Amino acid sequence: MSEELIRACEQYVKTELAGAEGGHDWWHIHRVRNLALTIAKQEQANLLVVELAALLHDIADPKFHQGDEEIGPRKAAIFLNEQQVNGDISQHVLQIIRHLSFKNSFDKHHTFSSKELHVVQDADRLDAIGAIGIARTFNYGGFKNRLIYDPSIPPENYQNKEAYKNSTAPTINHFYEKLLLLKDGMKTTTGKELAAQRHAFMEQYLAQFFAEWDGER
Ligand code: ADP
Ligand code: NI
Repeated sequence: MSEELIRACEQYVKTELAGAEGGHDWWHIHRVRNLALTIAKQEQANLLVVELAALLHDIADPKFHQGDEEIGPRKAAIFLNEQQVNGDISQHVLQIIRHLSFKNSFDKHHTFSSKELHVVQDADRLDAIGAIGIARTFNYGGFKNRLIYDPSIPPENYQNKEAYKNSTAPTINHFYEKLLLLKDGMKTTTGKELAAQRHAFMEQYLAQFFAEWDGER
């Protein structure tokens, strides 16, 4: 039963994400699902909840839907309902999708928490750092036609979600505004271990980037 459900879910997500920006496409989902299942096994989390939430977590990112924050959970709810998924599992998956986003961590009223949320959140954030994280970030910057870097625009320490979302800063700033902060926010032991290595790689990358910036040899 759950084999069939997972296959149906994969198909649904692939269809929804056809044509998505390269950092938020099916392959992001594929990586997050695999990372999430690896972490879930270590942390003894509910595998069905984790896999469904990982598969459905980005079916309709508000960034690409005029800021509508309920569109993702709404579409996921319709899918889970059509598949006659058990109400407790379905509610848990929807809560995870609502609470996953880095930008929502600015909202103090977001109080939901569970082991499965922590697992999927760590997996999603691991895919934002390391070599893949670097590739996704520059892809997003290109998609938005942002500058790669401008030494006259320093990174900001965003205090709220609106300021973070409205930023049009150069892509390198995103490393300081988000990516380098993710390691310390990892929730699971396995997530922390995996993040340490990816974080070190980004630091090495940035050192090389600035060494090359002025075009000197
Ligand atoms: P969240 O929804 O948790 O805030 P996002 O979907 O915004 O996370 O971020 C996912 C990935 O998209 C980031 O890790 C990064 O690679 C890319 N991205 C998002 N915002 C920016 C940005 N302003 N500049 C460059 N990359 C970005
Ligand atoms: Ni994601």
